[in-house]
Amino acid sequence: ENVPIITIDGPAGSGKGTISQSIATKLGWNLLDSGALYRLVGLAATIKGIALDDEVALSVIARDLDVSFKPGDSGIVDIILDNNLVTDDIRTEEAGASASKVAAVSGVRKALLERQRQFQTDPGLVADGRDMGTVVFPTAKIKIFLTASAEIRAERRLNQLKQQGINANLRGLIRDIEERDARDTNRKDAPLIPAEDAIIIDTSTMSIDEVVNTVMEAVEKVY
Ligand code: C5P
Repeated sequence: ENVPIITIDGPAGSGKGTISQSIATKLGWNLLDSGALYRLVGLAATIKGIALDDEVALSVIARDLDVSFKPGDSGIVDIILDNNLVTDDIRTEEAGASASKVAAVSGVRKALLERQRQFQTDPGLVADGRDMGTVVFPTAKIKIFLTASAEIRAERRLNQLKQQGINANLRGLIRDIEERDARDTNRKDAPLIPAEDAIIIDTSTMSIDEVVNTVMEAVEKVY
């Protein structure tokens, strides 16, 4: 591989987003948040009134997605879709559920494949998603798969929501996470599964720093 890549895959709430961002910052590498692309397709379809299983229309949306990522305030990346700032809109539970529906559509995955590979630029890439190590960047030298129990992942989500002043119920969040896991794991195309050569890290009882250090140790062995 010319440009070094670290893939970080795992289910919703496994800590992928936070860990990927931290590793990318430490190394000064680029970051691909592939989930954001699926969230954007779901959002664009909802805005246009397109059904989340309409393969032909969704594939066109994914192919023509007019999106840009720009560094915003306080380290957060601004996400702009068709000239509108949608950074917060794509982070809701509904947007996550819509994303996992359009992500099951093969035409959408195919349309996003090349766009994702274009993030592979110097000096390196940290790629966060579900199929980064298995499908999008199968030759990556470092593949990480993060897991945690559904309860722990729901608790983390609950705390995140609380910090944003949003009330939620733990049982409902566990159910949502289990539904999303089932949809992501059981789909035919690029299901959520660790690559054969992935390092599997169960983050249930680990702090963010501990996970980051574990990943950095793996990185230092290779690069
Ligand atoms: O990671 P995030 O929660 O933003 O992903 C939203 C949804 O997008 C996931 O539930 C999954 O269905 C889909 N996705 C995917 N492949 C990826 C990244 C996300 O199918 N590489």
